[in-house]
Amino acid sequence: MCGIVGYVGKHKVKDILLDGLQELEYRGYDSAGIAVLQKEDFSFYKAVGKLENLIEKTADFNPEGFAIGIGHTRWATHGKPTELNAHPHLGESSFVVHNGIIENYQEIKNALVKEGKHFLSQTDTEVIVHLFEKHLKNEATPFDAFKKMLSQLKGAYAILLATKSLPDTIFFAKNGSPMIIGVTEENEKIFASSDAPLIGNANHVLYLNDGEYGYVSPDELRLFDNENKEVPLQFSTLPASKLSAQKEGFRFFMEKEIYEQSSVISDTFLGRIQDEGIAFEELDPSLFEGINEIKLCACGTSYHAALTSSYLFERYAKIRSSVEIASELRYKEPLLTKDTLFVVISQSGETADTLETLKMAKKAGLKTLVICNVDNSSMVRLADATILTRAGIEKGVASTKAFATQMSVLWMLSLFLAKARETLSTEEIQQQIQALRGVPNSVKVTDELHEKIRRLSKRYLHGHGFFFIGRDVFYPLALEGALKLKEITYLHAEGYPSGEMKHGPIAMADPDLFTIALLPKNMLYEKAKSNVEELSARDSTICAISPLEFDKADDFIKTADRDHYMLEFFEMMVIVQLLAMEISIRLGNDVDMPRNLAKSVTVE
Ligand code: F6R
Repeated sequence: MCGIVGYVGKHKVKDILLDGLQELEYRGYDSAGIAVLQKEDFSFYKAVGKLENLIEKTADFNPEGFAIGIGHTRWATHGKPTELNAHPHLGESSFVVHNGIIENYQEIKNALVKEGKHFLSQTDTEVIVHLFEKHLKNEATPFDAFKKMLSQLKGAYAILLATKSLPDTIFFAKNGSPMIIGVTEENEKIFASSDAPLIGNANHVLYLNDGEYGYVSPDELRLFDNENKEVPLQFSTLPASKLSAQKEGFRFFMEKEIYEQSSVISDTFLGRIQDEGIAFEELDPSLFEGINEIKLCACGTSYHAALTSSYLFERYAKIRSSVEIASELRYKEPLLTKDTLFVVISQSGETADTLETLKMAKKAGLKTLVICNVDNSSMVRLADATILTRAGIEKGVASTKAFATQMSVLWMLSLFLAKARETLSTEEIQQQIQALRGVPNSVKVTDELHEKIRRLSKRYLHGHGFFFIGRDVFYPLALEGALKLKEITYLHAEGYPSGEMKHGPIAMADPDLFTIALLPKNMLYEKAKSNVEELSARDSTICAISPLEFDKADDFIKTADRDHYMLEFFEMMVIVQLLAMEISIRLGNDVDMPRNLAKSVTVE
């Protein structure tokens, strides 16, 4: 969580910092701040709320010439979103920005307070700057003080620190939170938490590894590893255009991303769906040797993709599959055996809980695979193997196209394994491939569908809750539909297996309980229909999504007559996404930046 930027150079420092923060605002947006050091003088600005408040506050601040600067957009962990808690945090003559959590901050703070240090904020971050300044007094150089300070920190961090003691230098460190350094043609240095602020600005970038730290100045960029050995710089290149990250005429990024699903799924299929089967060039066949079980682990929407895929892995590849919520797996002392392939799924590749489970699995000696949307993310760099989802930058906080591409990869992977394990015949694989080819078409949004959902949405703005219900893979889709609705409408919603309603929740049924019923033709239609009838008989308001007319429904969204349940799955996925978005718009919410959320959850 939180976004960090930094700059060393002679161009417009303020613009570079604020533009960078704008790109990172999806990571957290409850406050933001910048500090600029020029000719041994600091200027700093902080504002609560979205970045536009900081932009307004800095309107008259226009530094020219060489400067160094650091900036931060915050998603609060320790302390409320106030100006005092916003970064950068200041000491006597230094400023720091930080993403992550300093786990032993209280211990450090207590010691510093005893020594007479006064703290302004409630954050864990503030200890960094005071600890650094304490060491500054005794160590030979500011860099030695920075190193000594780092040696005392426990937890996850990406840190930038600027100090008057060395006014042309930024010190940096990364451990568990993302940090990239870009170098421009004019040898300016730009720091950022992800690629986005660097695209179009820096052509050479350095992805830092955990434990690395160092400093940059106009002439130097020096990097050290956790054993204090200097690391040779290995730069990568970035694409030059930012165009793909713009809204392109849609009202919200979420809307644009829903509409994009067809093309990003096609991209994800490219080269992988072949006439004779599924090909994953990136996978070494040895990855599956000796594997008798797949354990999938993820959070949120990615967890729903994992859960859906467990049906496919067992059904097609006949391989035992279990699914875990990452924050649960971390502390349950799981039995991890080496005949298990550990698969993590993550849009960002940075989610702290998921990343930790990947580390646990690696430590236990399991083979690991990550299905991820961000190349070079922490998970990608850690896992033994990676399948990239090719969804492009996802900006809406509510995940849509990332889920669509995760599901595309997972369906392909189940068939890839089915072929390797000979659990489906050649003919059955061919039929599945034929169906897969239909996915990009099944997620296309027609004007008619969108208009229908826009009109329907006005009837779902009140009530005492929503139940999304479905069976088989439509149960995790129901969970996903409910999550989308909760995130952006703030209405209460639950996803439930249709057959479970009578074991309790049906007691809630009345006209103000909205049931969104997923009724595919090709998966347990009659059974799911009986469950919906039970709810209808108790007067719940029913919105049925199905290709088959259903006269017990109050509202009906007709889907296409498709011959594979997974194609119905993808079509219904789009419908629940659009429904959540249209309700959210009617309620006047910020669709792309719903309250209390952040795009990349890099804290526990
Ligand atoms: C929901 C959503 C979150 C994420 C979750 C995991 O719309 O976006 O639930 O799915 O925070 O994030 P990743 O996939 O980046 O690990």
